[in-house]
Amino acid sequence: MKVTVVGAGAVGASCAEYIAIKDFAAEVVLLDIKEGYAEGKAMDLMQTASLNAFDTKITGVTNDYSKTAGSDVCVITSGIPRKPGMTREELIGINAGIVKAVSSSLIEHSPNTIIIVVSNPMDTMTYLVHKSTNLPKNKIIGMGGALDSARFKYRLAEALGAPISDVDGMVIGGHSDKGMVPLIGKAARNSVVVSEFLSEERMDQIVQDTKVGGATLTGLLGTSAWYAPGAAVSGMVQAIACDTKKIFPCSALLDGEFGLSDLSIGVPCVLGANGIESIVEISLTDAEKAKLAESAEGVKKTNGLLEL
Ligand code: 2OP
Repeated sequence: MKVTVVGAGAVGASCAEYIAIKDFAAEVVLLDIKEGYAEGKAMDLMQTASLNAFDTKITGVTNDYSKTAGSDVCVITSGIPRKPGMTREELIGINAGIVKAVSSSLIEHSPNTIIIVVSNPMDTMTYLVHKSTNLPKNKIIGMGGALDSARFKYRLAEALGAPISDVDGMVIGGHSDKGMVPLIGKAARNSVVVSEFLSEERMDQIVQDTKVGGATLTGLLGTSAWYAPGAAVSGMVQAIACDTKKIFPCSALLDGEFGLSDLSIGVPCVLGANGIESIVEISLTDAEKAKLAESAEGVKKTNGLLEL
């Protein structure tokens, strides 16, 4: 299994580190445009191999896509991160050109690859890759819901006073401060719905805290988060590499599912060797359907800013 991670910044390097530590891939190529940067991060990470007991080989390259040839999965994290007070959508002007060029270079050397898009605004960047490449739609996946769901579970466990391993929850919809749809009515503590433990007010607060989870960290850190984004995408890569058939909320191109079409947005997907093996059209309440439809309108509005 060969994985390429484009962008050796905090998210990309964290992703590479978590993939290596999980030790399911033979090779990870870390690519960046900044001279020596990916090489340095790769060397530093390889010097943890004996300490973290992994055999995955991480190599760094500066803008040489020939070294990415034959990648089974490619992760695109390149582009600028947001600053405090910015929305993810404000990044489109710069990141769209980067993501389009990067995806084209990746596919040139790995025509059968699966691409996972992390760069923001993620749903629109994922849609851009669908529209600007000939990759089958099951091989283009956006990472947002896995991260948002992890933040949702963090907030749920905090409120419940429960171990995170006892909590389940999923966030669908757009990966945006306003567009996320945390499925609070389906969230559970060891199969018991959380409404058995929490007040409406507390559940509403959890939903709100989840939606601004990224912005909260950007305010604290002065830049976008990286540990949880890196971990989230590494879990998706592992599901693909090991053909686990796990369900993740992923940004997927819809063609009628959930009554939506011609956009990529977060929905439950079975991930496996083929990328998106299937989209799982779970039952939604009328309120959840309305929130997803509203979220889709927001994603389509951002998509409208693309020069396709
Ligand atoms: C986040 O929410 C970077 O969009 C990513 O942290």
